[in-house]
Amino acid sequence: MVDALGVAVVGFGWMGRVHTQAYARVRHHYPRLAVRPELVTVAEEVPGRAEEAARQFGFASATRDWREVAADPRVKAVSITAPNFLHREIGVAMAQAGKHIWIEKPVGLTAEDARAVADAVAEAGVQGAVGFNYRNAPAVEAARELIASGDIGTVTHVRFRLFSDYAAHPEGALTWRYERERGGSGVLGDLASHGADLARFLLGDITSVAADTAVFVPERARPAGATAGHTRAAGGELGPVENEDYVNCLLRFASGARGVLEACRVSVGEQNNYGFEVHGTKGAVFWDFRRMNELGVSRGTSYQDQPVSTVYVGPGDGEFGAFQPGAANAMGYDDLKVVEAYRFLRSVAEGVPYGATLADAVHSAAVLDAMTRSAAEGGWAEVTGA
Ligand SMILES: NC(=O)c1ccc[n+]([C@@H]2O[C@H](COP(=O)([O-])OP(=O)(O)OC[C@H]3O[C@@H](n4cnc5c(N)ncnc54)[C@H](O)[C@@H]3O)[C@@H](O)[C@H]2O)c1
Repeated sequence: MVDALGVAVVGFGWMGRVHTQAYARVRHHYPRLAVRPELVTVAEEVPGRAEEAARQFGFASATRDWREVAADPRVKAVSITAPNFLHREIGVAMAQAGKHIWIEKPVGLTAEDARAVADAVAEAGVQGAVGFNYRNAPAVEAARELIASGDIGTVTHVRFRLFSDYAAHPEGALTWRYERERGGSGVLGDLASHGADLARFLLGDITSVAADTAVFVPERARPAGATAGHTRAAGGELGPVENEDYVNCLLRFASGARGVLEACRVSVGEQNNYGFEVHGTKGAVFWDFRRMNELGVSRGTSYQDQPVSTVYVGPGDGEFGAFQPGAANAMGYDDLKVVEAYRFLRSVAEGVPYGATLADAVHSAAVLDAMTRSAAEGGWAEVTGA
């Protein structure tokens, strides 16, 4: 007999929808999961949006006030998919109310916010999962194993890139993402947070950074009404973009490896061009999110002119087998969130963390804080407080 676990979603924009779909699908892919998520309630500030979500996805109730979710005894676990400025307040309140949380990156506006949520989760003794979905890609897990096995030798240098055009359109609305108060940093929190997590997941701790940031679209039009995702607002009153569109950053790892992380949200012609190149003394491994189920691998003893092969991940890699029966049947982005839901719910069922936790969020946020300091002051900044 599998126990039902009451779940709630707070903030029903893009991520709220993706978390909800993951709860709905998780037992299709993981029939042996020891809990069965039940959609109890959804909280969303925009009038009518929560009711609409309840009708479409089958939540038993809907509310505009997330505090009702914290007080609801039916709710045992909460997805926090609201904008960044609410992560800390909602995350701490839910943990203090004894709810397990699955919270989106970057977990607040700063490392201090991420630490506050991590502390509340630890004090309450609940589970805390974080939305670093790219590390759930089977090819990324395969790359991690390949690097750890020593097959590409000692890692010498790496490049992480996260290029997107989601903010490239001049009519893109001035949403919470572009405000210091509600978004915090810009592309740092949005995309570089994933890059910092991937870098650490693959290669261990980053110890210092030297970053340069820029704003390339300094003004945007204020939206006339409610927004979700990347809305347009042609003709709206112009307001300032308060955080960076672009970051370019040198990395030093505890291992001695060197790296570059570059992220941009206004790159015309780049759609989710996220990936990495990891170079070692004997080989290399390459990953591109747009070809998520493939790895480029160069290994051997040739050193020079050593071929690069394309390897399709298969049921032996990460969670691939829960989705597809054989290599080269593609998994997609939403599947990574189903993996994340599985790891979160398994953590709740077993009382042991699986997947990215709040400690990982604190590490990523500490790297972003160091990038911010370096960009403001110039020169290298140590990663502290992780
Ligand atoms: N892991 C990923 O790949 C990924 C991708 C996109 C966004 N995110 C993260 O997910 C979070 C949400 O991003 P999004 O793209 O879904 O944004 P979004 O703007 O589409 O959705 C946010 C929703 O929260 C609602 N909201 C705002 N204030 C609220 C309140 N007080 N109570 C309840 N709901 C409220 C908004 O009305 C909106 O519907 C952000 O922290 C973002 O960094 C993660």
